[in-house]
Amino acid sequence: MQIDPATLSAKDSYLLMTACVVPRPVGWASTLGADGVPNLAPFSYFGGVSSSPMTVMLSVGRRAGRPKDTAANLLATKEAVLHIPTRALAAAMVATSADAGPDIDEFALAGLTPLPSVSVRPPRVAEAAIAMEAVLRHHLEVGDGPVDMFLLEVVRLHLDDDVLVDGRPDPARLAAVGRLGGRSYCDTTAPFEIPRPD
Ligand SMILES: Cc1cc2nc3c(=O)[nH]c(=O)nc-3n(C[C@H](O)[C@H](O)[C@H](O)COP(=O)(O)O)c2cc1C
Repeated sequence: MQIDPATLSAKDSYLLMTACVVPRPVGWASTLGADGVPNLAPFSYFGGVSSSPMTVMLSVGRRAGRPKDTAANLLATKEAVLHIPTRALAAAMVATSADAGPDIDEFALAGLTPLPSVSVRPPRVAEAAIAMEAVLRHHLEVGDGPVDMFLLEVVRLHLDDDVLVDGRPDPARLAAVGRLGGRSYCDTTAPFEIPRPD
């Protein structure tokens, strides 16, 4: 079948887009409000953009036309820590997606331990195997929502030694979570290899 996305409702567009672009890595974002309240929430409109300098993209939808807490915090304080959720932390990651209000600390809500970061003010999740401290470089409003799209430069990486092979995360050890459509997820515990052509 063929579909012209312009004929779809916003909801059907979302359902189709998120069923086609799979698996999506999840950027689990720690930010601080202007008042200093920590915030933690997952976003699967997330990805790598550049390696030099290391830059990632995070796209945050609006809630009833207003920026979500993560977007408001990024606009106010320009810093975040992006974690890569792993299988063992998947349920806690989803728990932090609750619409909890800016005064609620999702670290406490999900039983996670905040640790001070080194180069930015938002805390990082002690239990996470990969945490990337990042600074906001660009903000774009994209689409009809619009969504708030952020490009963030990674200024410090924290890597759990247990997931490393030769100094870099090994996918099977890491068991990073990918988001599929709806409530479905996958992980990276069954990678396969294909040699590149010369
Ligand atoms: C795995 C997962 C991925 C998500 N991805 C997105 C996303 O890409 N964009 C978005 O706006 N919301 C996404 N959400 C929903 C947000 O996490 C949710 O709206 C959350 O309450 C936002 O928190 P905040 O208001 O503290 O920023 C996702 C939720 C889950 C569980």
